[in-house]
Amino acid sequence: TRAWRGLIEEYRDRLPVTTATPVVTLLEGGTPLVPAHRVSALTGCEVYLKVEGLNPTGSFKDRGMTMAISKAVEEGAKAVICASTGNTSASAAAYAVRAGLTCAVLVPRGKIAMGKLAQALVHGAKLLQVEGSFDDCLEMTRELSENYPIALVNSVNPFRLQGQKTAAFEIVDALGDAPDIHCIPVGNAGNISAYWMGYTEYAGDGVATRTPRMFGFQASGAAPIVNGAPVTHPHTIATAIRIGNPASWQLAEAARDESGGVIQSVTDRQIAAAYKLLAQEEGVFVELASAASVAGLLQAHEQGLVDPGQRIVCTVTGNGLKDPDWAISGAPTPLTISIDAHAAATALDLV
Ligand code: F0G
Repeated sequence: TRAWRGLIEEYRDRLPVTTATPVVTLLEGGTPLVPAHRVSALTGCEVYLKVEGLNPTGSFKDRGMTMAISKAVEEGAKAVICASTGNTSASAAAYAVRAGLTCAVLVPRGKIAMGKLAQALVHGAKLLQVEGSFDDCLEMTRELSENYPIALVNSVNPFRLQGQKTAAFEIVDALGDAPDIHCIPVGNAGNISAYWMGYTEYAGDGVATRTPRMFGFQASGAAPIVNGAPVTHPHTIATAIRIGNPASWQLAEAARDESGGVIQSVTDRQIAAAYKLLAQEEGVFVELASAASVAGLLQAHEQGLVDPGQRIVCTVTGNGLKDPDWAISGAPTPLTISIDAHAAATALDLV
């Protein structure tokens, strides 16, 4: 056994890098695949959580960012830009520091979780809050990167998906083969597309004997792919996936159709319930958007789409600490007591 070297070194032969590529890494990837006992019991399946919140900046975005930033440096970029619901900006800001690049970020004002805002600011990104949606921000960053010397590191940058596909490799490497079903939240739709690339690549090369059915889940107030039309004013408590016109829409539909999967919507109520279940019954603290994968699995199980005994992986995309406001708002206010062990014993129902 040896130390994890970051996903570019671990999967170098499967990524578009050469010896000339300067590897910008925070040793991302290699995240745990945690057995989910409670979700398994509820579904009669063998369910695992791919805990992407344990990446260096607390989300799966680091997988794409190590690739996008490394390639940007290789191509001589001095500055990078992204639109974000928060996690991409946190990741871009950190990897830009690592590479000595300037980082600009456009976010929808008032719609990103506090921890993510803190990350972009502490890493010194130039952050602009736009009075609009994520989709407006993405449109602006595309225009800016076309007209000014600044490289776009959103998932429309193909190197992002290349990095993100490694999560599928890790799952097959850990389980010995692909799962039956893979559940994943869908926002801008890059990640579901990247996983499908990874699974098909491994199956094509005989590393896996099969590919999973891809089950993608959007929030019901931000479900353009499910509705079959862009959503002009997307709304959901899961701000990370509050997206009305996903950039990788076609790729996500291809992943769904080629894999024999589904893309469905789950309500904010279902997302909040899955968030709580993961925190209180699995011991895994994820952010709201991440819980959409588990909310979706439970829904698909209810609908009879899931055969008993199947092996299922749910990607939980981001760390719960990203959004302390939501976590605290749903919890009881802690009692305050004096320095008195007996008072503590009473308050704790020990007496
Ligand atoms: N989960 C989390 C925690 C996310 O931050 C995102 C996307 C997704 C799921 C959806 O992934 O876009 O590849 O379908 N966040 C982007 C951002 C949009 O700006 O951080 P997707």
